[in-house]
Amino acid sequence: MINNRFFYQDGILHFKINSSQFLSFDFLEGNFFHRLQKVEQEILIKKAIGKHSNALKIFDATGGSLVDTFIFLRLGHEVVACEQSKILFMLVKDAVERAKKEYDFLEKLTFLNANSADVINRFSESDIFYFDPMFAGTKKKLKRSGVLQKITKVLEIEKLGDTSSCVFSDLRKKNYKKIIVKRPIKSEPLHHQINYQVKGKSVRYDVYKKH
Ligand SMILES: C[S@@+](CC[C@H](N)C(=O)[O-])C[C@H]1O[C@@H](n2cnc3c(N)ncnc32)[C@H](O)[C@@H]1O
Repeated sequence: MINNRFFYQDGILHFKINSSQFLSFDFLEGNFFHRLQKVEQEILIKKAIGKHSNALKIFDATGGSLVDTFIFLRLGHEVVACEQSKILFMLVKDAVERAKKEYDFLEKLTFLNANSADVINRFSESDIFYFDPMFAGTKKKLKRSGVLQKITKVLEIEKLGDTSSCVFSDLRKKNYKKIIVKRPIKSEPLHHQINYQVKGKSVRYDVYKKH
């Protein structure tokens, strides 16, 4: 039973991962809050999105903690974000509800608790499909990112694997305008026919275009 591992503290929903670790999200303070205030500095993701005259419709197939989704929204786009994990979804949804008083752009967010494979066809008109698969790195590397390590543990509790690369492969066979895949800088691409790459120090964006 996972339901009895949720609890509220200071009005924030938490999940008990084990006897010493808890997970919760908050978009109203901390580093990410400050990053959102300086969204114009998000050069890499802006380059990956490319030139556009209107706000775009983005389908985020790997919602996670919605950090990337928030950047897209803050840049003025409309986002459907999909997260398979019920635990992550409930924690992040709680954080989104609390953040609504601060951010008007959340009106442009649709957040779904589903496997992307099951819903992606409903959003085939999206301008951009975005994928940020879990990094299958060494335990040492994972340790560097506390939140990612906790997300990994949560997925283990729910016995969920990251199937987003399969969703990506299926999508590539269909019609789409643009797919953006976020990858660790030195990792293999999900597919080699990339149209262009935007590279940072530790991550890169592989961009696939069809028409
Ligand atoms: C690296 S995290 C994404 C982090 C996210 N970009 C962020 O800004 O927080 C990958 C997430 O994708 C989710 N995921 C993987 N495969 C999925 C699928 N087929 N459908 C929905 N979510 C999936 C995992 O549960 C995990 O939370």
